[in-house]
Amino acid sequence: MDIPSVRLENGFELPLVGLGTSQLMGRPGSAAVATAIRSGYRLVDTATRYSNELSVGHGIRASGVDRSEVVIQTKLAGGDQGFDEAINAATQSARRLGVDHLDVYLIHWPNPSLGQTVESWKALLTLADEGFIKVAGVSNFTQGQLQSLYDETGRWPALNQIQCSPALARTQLREFMAEKGIHAQAWHPSGRKESVPGDTTVIKLARKYGKSPTQIALRWSVQQGISVIPKSAHSGRQVENADLFDFALTDDDLAELAQLDRGERAARDSGVYEEY
Ligand SMILES: NC(=O)c1ccc[n+]([C@@H]2O[C@H](COP(=O)([O-])OP(=O)(O)OC[C@H]3O[C@@H](n4cnc5c(N)ncnc54)[C@H](OP(=O)(O)O)[C@@H]3O)[C@@H](O)[C@H]2O)c1
Repeated sequence: MDIPSVRLENGFELPLVGLGTSQLMGRPGSAAVATAIRSGYRLVDTATRYSNELSVGHGIRASGVDRSEVVIQTKLAGGDQGFDEAINAATQSARRLGVDHLDVYLIHWPNPSLGQTVESWKALLTLADEGFIKVAGVSNFTQGQLQSLYDETGRWPALNQIQCSPALARTQLREFMAEKGIHAQAWHPSGRKESVPGDTTVIKLARKYGKSPTQIALRWSVQQGISVIPKSAHSGRQVENADLFDFALTDDDLAELAQLDRGERAARDSGVYEEY
């Protein structure tokens, strides 16, 4: 399986499909990570908050694929925000993953009530300048929150990981991000919680292309240059979720899928919602 990449603003090549690992724990979690890498995945998304960095690191090593070929992406937990705290947290994440540097490091949620977002962002920029991380990014940031990082430091995140699927198209936010050179990466890209795979239009398109409804949802993202990190514990579904590059949705298909969008209000409001 050969998964295409997208080039970020700083030249970093990011695979368009990676493995999400939320809830992949312990030995079964490690085995799922190893299986995905053996089948061709070259990006693994984890987070301190998932409490599985040890298992993910073990799975990467167990895959037999050289660490240098795998993009390792993890996230700063809410409770670790702050300049010194974030530097320390990145070091601890790398230690748990068993690596000497991280590839992509993201602020998991802005958590505005802490008032530490900008200090955390400065820490990520320092880590990037020192080469400890290759890509400094964020997750779940709104347009205003992205703008304030730039206003305070003169530097945009390379990537913003956001909830995104045909049901949560995030069009305005993505337009702003594209203008600023911020790559969009989709979490919960299957839209399962919003019933995307059960939607009649999605099922119709799945039949039309001989694909599964999940593949239609994921293709909607990657066709627009949005990378996806679907999670599956099952090898067959992992392969299915990366098998997206032998068909293309037409403009008419995309117009039909646009009807599924529930609008920005259906997304969690990062101005209020916080995670630790
Ligand atoms: N930044 C953030 O705040 C944030 C928030 C949430 C998630 N994430 C990241 O994004 C990743 C993906 O999000 P997610 O796990 O919420 O959603 P998802 O990947 O869209 O969906 C995962 C669910 O769908 C099932 N599934 C996957 N592929 C399938 C297929 N081809 N057919 C049928 N069922 C399938 C999985 O079950 P099986 O395992 O049984 O296949 C699992 O229950 C997470 O793992 C995590 O790494 C980030």
